[in-house]
Amino acid sequence: MRSIVELIAAKRDGGRLSDDEIAWLIDQYATDKLPDYQMASMAMAVYFQGLDARETGSWTRAMLHSGEVLNFDEIGVSRIDKHSTGGVGDKISLPLAPAAAACGVTVPMVSGRGLGHTGGTLDKLEAIPGYTVGLGVDEFRSVLAEQGCAMVGQTGEIAPADKRLYALRDVTATVESIPLITASIMSKKLAEGLDGLVLDVKVGGAAFMKTRDDARRLAESMVSVGEEMGKRVVAFLTRMEEPLGHMVGNACEVVESMDVLSGAGPSDVRELVVTLGGAMVELAHHVSFEEGRSRIAKSLDDGSAMERWRGMVALQGGDLSALPEPRGETVVRAPSAGWVQAIDGLEVGLCGVALGAGRTRSDQDVDPIVGVRLDRHRGDRVEAGEAIATILHGEQGAPSESVVERLAAAFTVGSEEPEPVPLILERIG
Ligand code: URA
Repeated sequence: MRSIVELIAAKRDGGRLSDDEIAWLIDQYATDKLPDYQMASMAMAVYFQGLDARETGSWTRAMLHSGEVLNFDEIGVSRIDKHSTGGVGDKISLPLAPAAAACGVTVPMVSGRGLGHTGGTLDKLEAIPGYTVGLGVDEFRSVLAEQGCAMVGQTGEIAPADKRLYALRDVTATVESIPLITASIMSKKLAEGLDGLVLDVKVGGAAFMKTRDDARRLAESMVSVGEEMGKRVVAFLTRMEEPLGHMVGNACEVVESMDVLSGAGPSDVRELVVTLGGAMVELAHHVSFEEGRSRIAKSLDDGSAMERWRGMVALQGGDLSALPEPRGETVVRAPSAGWVQAIDGLEVGLCGVALGAGRTRSDQDVDPIVGVRLDRHRGDRVEAGEAIATILHGEQGAPSESVVERLAAAFTVGSEEPEPVPLILERIG
């Protein structure tokens, strides 16, 4: 076996690492025998030189087996989850997991917190007073068995090597590497003991992957690692320029998710729930995608998805009747008349962070109440001085003038009506 310095040098110079070398490297790091500075050098070498398909698979497997792999075989129904690479206003998991559960899919969902400009499912769920994301494995299993879905956070036992490596990559400018993102996401998801996975790979200015080519390469890499491990995996490339839906924040996104669960809500959020959920039903029940879509749509319209949601939230200790309300509002007005041609989702997300709805460091708390409501959307007509967005005040009260100006500047208003653009761009797998 080559020494760690030889392995770093080999990768730096474009060489390959063997399965055993990768397993050793990840094990040494997970068990604290390899210092951060050597792993950071290796991550940077991978960032520049990449990993081939075989190395990516070995890296994923090593991270997966650095911790516990859950086993829900006794539940006996196909276990399918969904993962999004992260967006603004991306509350899709909240209505999706109960909708899929209402269609007979088991959804053991381990979610993350928001970081940077993107929101996190756990932060949204924790806006519900009493909701516990830190369930032990037995409680997780019992909520799953009873409601068909459970939504929890990553424990120290799930892919601990990824937990440590992700924190290191975050502070060493090595996040944006397709093989490292593949191994990070897939090791966590495969640790849920899944049969299949549906991936929502976001593309655009407000996503990690800015171009369709990069998003396609990431999607293909994740699909091939999953399939190599015997899982059914489907990925969708979806547009992430404007925020999804009308709400960006935490409690306000729970409210919007419940609109979708009652058969209403913004059409883009419903469309993504129906598409991603349709693929989950297809993978679980071996029916056509169209049949999967229509089952999910029915579950939203007939109240069965809402019933699963209420059941899951109650079992996890949440009290939906106590959702916190905004303390006040500040209206953001259009500077001129015209058509809304674009809304910069990255800027809206960063305004959300500045207001306290998100975090820039993983140890920060978020304000569950504060948020942004988009009152106008791409393709809408506005008059000068009309409300285009509303800031929902949290504990800190009214926002600073600079955030109000920044939010106004996130809207491009022009004299031409923009062409409609598709939300779902491509399916892979
Ligand atoms: N999300 C993850 O979980 N890991 C990454 O590396 C990037 C996004």
